[in-house]
Amino acid sequence: PTPIILDCDPGHDDAIAIMLAGGHPAIDLKGITVVAGNQTLEKTVNNALNVCQHLAIDVPVFAGCDRPMVRAKQVIADDIHGETGLDGPVFAPRTKTAEAMHAVMYIIETLKASVEPMTLVATGPLTNYAMALRMAPDIIEKIDRFVIMGGSLQHGNVTPAAEFNILADAEAAHIVFSAGKKVVMVGLDVTRKVLCLPSVVEKMRVEGNVASKLFVDLMSFFNKTQKEVFGWEGGPLHDPVTIAYLINPSILELQSMVTEIDYSQGPSYGRTNCDLFGFSKEPHNSEVAMNVDVEAFWQVIREGIACYE
Ligand code: BDR
Ligand code: CA
Repeated sequence: PTPIILDCDPGHDDAIAIMLAGGHPAIDLKGITVVAGNQTLEKTVNNALNVCQHLAIDVPVFAGCDRPMVRAKQVIADDIHGETGLDGPVFAPRTKTAEAMHAVMYIIETLKASVEPMTLVATGPLTNYAMALRMAPDIIEKIDRFVIMGGSLQHGNVTPAAEFNILADAEAAHIVFSAGKKVVMVGLDVTRKVLCLPSVVEKMRVEGNVASKLFVDLMSFFNKTQKEVFGWEGGPLHDPVTIAYLINPSILELQSMVTEIDYSQGPSYGRTNCDLFGFSKEPHNSEVAMNVDVEAFWQVIREGIACYE
């Protein structure tokens, strides 16, 4: 199994990423680090803990940064994820608590202690990883690569230019993309193809276990807000594409290129400038997802759900 740290901001699609990473035998989920994003940090941590407890995922959860590195105005996505950041399902009273250590310290210590370089997955703003890189630059040797949900070759989903995770902390994204390790960028170009249509929800319902029920509850709410905001019939299940790719790399078609983050204070703040035509002669820092095998993706999600009791 691939050992990973999952940094996230749950979030409905983050919750499914946790489900997949926490249950599938191909992934060795070492720890979950949480960042402010879809909602405030207090709420995203609460959501990560609820999902873990609900699914009996026995993995430590660490609270990280509660605000972006530089940008003054914090953005959240309550229009999509609701007041709690994970509206829809009802969770039992919680006994699982977050670890005392700060997420950034956990990332640093875990990498330092690791013999093999590790894969760092991110499904939220990149603040925690960027902070870790600034605080302990030598951890770079222990990073195999980043696999992130974020960015877009084409259009954004919060501004015409920017996708939410990059827009929420573009300075952090710049630090991660320029750190010197490959970033597998799973952007909107592919995640907008994995729409959780009613037919998909019905397929996942069939399993009937705790994970299947949570999937249905989460997606019922998510599909409603996605329809209100974007008009989709099914919401794009962005975040789990990162984990599904690690489980079955053939689901994504990747193209190596230079990607630069626009963190200038203008209308394109948070844009991922993906150099598809190779204008830049700099070494490639990213593998950008160009296409996704939609059927194979849903197959991995189904497999992931079936891993639970
Ligand atoms: C990303 O933004 C968040 O709302 C989702 O959880 C996902 O990580 C999509 O732009
Ligand atoms: Ca997310």
